[in-house]
Amino acid sequence: MRIQVIDHPLVSHKLSLLRDEKTPSPVFRQLVDELVTLLAYEATRDVATCEVEVTTPLTTTKARKLALPQPIVVPILRAGLGMLEGMAKLLPSAEIGFLGMKRDEQTLEAITYANRLPEDLSGRQCYVLDPMLATGHTLIASVDYLLERGARDVTCVCIIAAPEGLENFQEAIGNRADVKIVVAAVDDHLNENGYIVPGLGDAGDRLYGVID
Ligand code: URA
Repeated sequence: MRIQVIDHPLVSHKLSLLRDEKTPSPVFRQLVDELVTLLAYEATRDVATCEVEVTTPLTTTKARKLALPQPIVVPILRAGLGMLEGMAKLLPSAEIGFLGMKRDEQTLEAITYANRLPEDLSGRQCYVLDPMLATGHTLIASVDYLLERGARDVTCVCIIAAPEGLENFQEAIGNRADVKIVVAAVDDHLNENGYIVPGLGDAGDRLYGVID
């Protein structure tokens, strides 16, 4: 597993606004969109390309374009949905799959409530979107799911990770596949309710409001 923390002034700036409890939902959504586009630039550094010949107004030349099959982007519902547009801006030809996961607030374990993904993911580059890598249970369950379907090249794009979650993830996924985590920040710790501290609160609630 590889972890890349994106150290960039614009990422830090947008993250500080996201953390602010006074940032209202519409601004929060816009900031997530912009931040994910910045993260996506790094997350797609190893996206597969192939050589093509292009005719310019002056001559023909060799160039590179995205290879087939298209990469697949998998937002983890609900909060990962807020990251989809930011990612799709850089990868408009990607296919989009969906995984619905929520955590049991007592056990903090992940429960799958929806999935829409190709049966066979072998040979596909997968980009999983989940803003908060807290305990890691949701991301572990999601990546496990993709590996079961044959994926071997998975990049997770997160906004904030907790050290405990990264450790759990490393332990659970190990070196079963080439898995990379791209994140804007690794925070201090998880609190007793499984929230990242200092964090930004509940990402789903801040994006979409509180649903009981
Ligand atoms: N999920 C969130 O939205 N925020 C946290 O801090 C932890 C999990």
